[in-house]
Order: sequence, then structure tokens, then C-alpha cells
Amino acid sequence: MSAIHIALLGYGTVGKGVYKTIQTHQEKLKNIFRKDVKVVAILVKNIEKHHAPDPDILLTDDFNKIVKLEKLDVVIDAIFGKNPSFTYLQQAMNKGCHVITANKEMFAYHGTQLKQLAKEQGVTLGFEATVAGGIPIIQTLRQLLHVNTIQKVQGILNGTSNFILTKMREELYPFETALKLAQEKGYAEADPTNDVEGYDAFYKAVILSELAFGEIPNWEDSIRQGIQSITPEQIELFSAFGYRFKHVASMEKTAKGILCTVKPVLVNETHPFYQIEGVQNAVSIDGDIVGNISLQGPGAGMFPTASAIIEDLVYINKHSFSPIFLDEQNELSVKAFKTYWAI
Ligand code: NDP
Ligand code: HSE
Repeated sequence: MSAIHIALLGYGTVGKGVYKTIQTHQEKLKNIFRKDVKVVAILVKNIEKHHAPDPDILLTDDFNKIVKLEKLDVVIDAIFGKNPSFTYLQQAMNKGCHVITANKEMFAYHGTQLKQLAKEQGVTLGFEATVAGGIPIIQTLRQLLHVNTIQKVQGILNGTSNFILTKMREELYPFETALKLAQEKGYAEADPTNDVEGYDAFYKAVILSELAFGEIPNWEDSIRQGIQSITPEQIELFSAFGYRFKHVASMEKTAKGILCTVKPVLVNETHPFYQIEGVQNAVSIDGDIVGNISLQGPGAGMFPTASAIIEDLVYINKHSFSPIFLDEQNELSVKAFKTYWAI
């Protein structure tokens, strides 16, 4: 049986989650792809910390060795920071590989360029894992965008901040203890300043804005505040009045462009975000036809993020690895499709 050959960039929380999921779900993936799905290479920074999970896998700290592999179909990016991730993904696409990324910082800055390059190279680009962990928000927006006009998107987009606020209120943990726990659980960014000062949620808002409105917010006009200055005393006081702090990103199309704010707000039990606790994220979308749609689910962590990446792999499969048969009216030819898949 032929195979889909995958390189994993990064072998931390997300990289390991993807590797393990591919192993544990091999049969299901084989049924979908009608091919084996194989990790053939893993890129790390500090090679002395690691060992390859399988002797046939190339474990390296040199991306050149990966991009030169003869058989390479998909590159999955699970490292952090704008670079070298952006450069590596460009090289991978130029070689004709499909690309999936979980790296929101890089994607907020360079997503537009990567989307363009993917078009030029005829490859597929998946970025479901860049926003809201395991929640399929990118696919949902893609589905809605066929006919709906999106008017507003709001969300709790950072699992670490929500986890910290929950632990500070429920268990009276000091901020630092709650953050340390989030780091131990693999929720926090390599530099957790990104989480607690609202940068991570802002990067996600940029990515959602481009998809929902076809436009990114003006970075200078946007408001970005984190949760770092919220005190245990404030949490206790507002809790006594029935309010909880939630770190909320809002994006709205206005005459002046996309208005984006990322900041802590107080909500009471009548607000849909009141019950979103721990590492959960939530996203609420207003479309002109559908009205309001709300999604919630795990916003960070090993397997929720792996789930988003594996679903991207299947999305790539649908769009790239399987032939599309069009008839003379440019409609999908059901007959040819059924013959190909023997259904
Ligand atoms: P980790 O810190 O756990 O792992 C990062 C991995 O990337 C490590 O294996 C590290 O190598 C490797 N790496 C970092 N920089 C380089 C580099 N320059 N060259 C080669 N390898 C490098 O991070 P996570 O797995 O948590 O996150 C990975 C990415 O996924 C980030 O962009 C993050 O924002 C995103 N993400 C994370 C989620 C989560 O819940 N953790 C959820 C959604 C997205 P080494 O081990 O040798 O240091
Ligand atoms: N650090 C991020 C968070 C990971 O806590 O939401 C998921 O993007």
C-alpha cells in the first residue's frame, strides 16, 4: 500500500499529540486515505533532548534534511515564533508539499502570504489548530461563508487565561500557581506572556477576522489587554455580586474597518460565556442568514490540538489527494466519483 509521508516540525505538546494520534488512529486514517499515513521525519531544536519514536523516522535539527526528502507529502508545523516557521513552510510549499500549521503567531503575521503561495503552488494549507484548540471554528466559518455575511465574531480564545481566571476564583490559587499549572498541562505558550497579556488571543482574532471579513484589523487601532493585572481581591469582590472575569476577543465590521478588542470583561450568569470555565474556549458568530452560532470546547492541550490538525489532514485529503471528476456542466460527476470509490 502506498503512503502519505508526513514531516512534523516540533515534538513538544502538539507534535507528540499528532504523532500519538496518527499511531492510535492508523486504521481509521487508512480507511479515509486508502493509504498508510506515516510520519517520516521530526524536526526539533535541541536534538540531545529527544529520541525518535521509531527507528525509521528521521529525527533532526536540520530542516534542509527534511525538505530534501524524496518522499514528502505534508509538513505539519508545531514549532513557535514567526521564524523559522514561515521560511520552512514556504520551502515546503515550493517543493509541492501540503502544509498544516498550529503556529498562530506566525500565521497572524504571514497567513495572507502563505495562502497566496498555496494557491500559486496548487497545495493545500490547513490552519484549524491556530484558533481555539479543538473547536472546528475555521471549518465552520468556511462553511458559513458560502452565502452568509458575517457581522460579528466574539470569543474566549485563550485557554490558559480562562484556566487561570477559573482557578483563581474557584480554588483561590495565586496567579503564578495557576499559570504554573497551565504550563504543566501543556496549555501555555513557550513564552506565557503571549497568553496572559492577550497577544495570543489577538493573533487568533487577526486570523478569524481575515477569514470572516476578508480583512484584518488595523493593529494600531486595536485594543489588546491581558489578565495580568486582575487581582484575587477583584475576582472575589465581583464574584460576590455574581460576576466572573472572562477574557474576550471581539471583532466587528464597521465603516472604519474591522474593530478588534481583546480584553477582560465581567459577565453575569445571563451571558453565554459565564459557564465557559477552565481551558474551555467559546466562539460566537453572527451571520446575516443563520443568526447566531455558538461553539465551545477545549481551547488548548495535546489531544484537542492534535484533533484539529488531523481534521486538517482529512480536509487536505478531500481537496488534494482524491481526484475530483467534473462533467461537461462543471458539476461533480457522481457516476465517475462512485466508480472511482467503488460505492
Ligand atoms: P512546545 O514548547 O511543547 O514544543 C515546541 C517544539 O518545537 C519543541 O519540540 C521544540 O524543540 C520545537 N522547536 C521550537 N523552535 C524550533 C526551531 N526553531 N527549530 C526546530 N524546532 C523548534 O510547544 P507546543 O507544542 O505547545 O506548541 C507548538 C506550536 O503549537 C506553537 O506555535 C503553539 O502556539 C501552537 N499551539 C499550541 C497549543 C497547545 O495547547 N500547546 C494549541 C494550539 C496551538 P525542542 O523540544 O528541541 O526544544
Ligand atoms: N496557549 C494557547 C492557549 C494554546 O492557552 O489558548 C492554544 O492556542
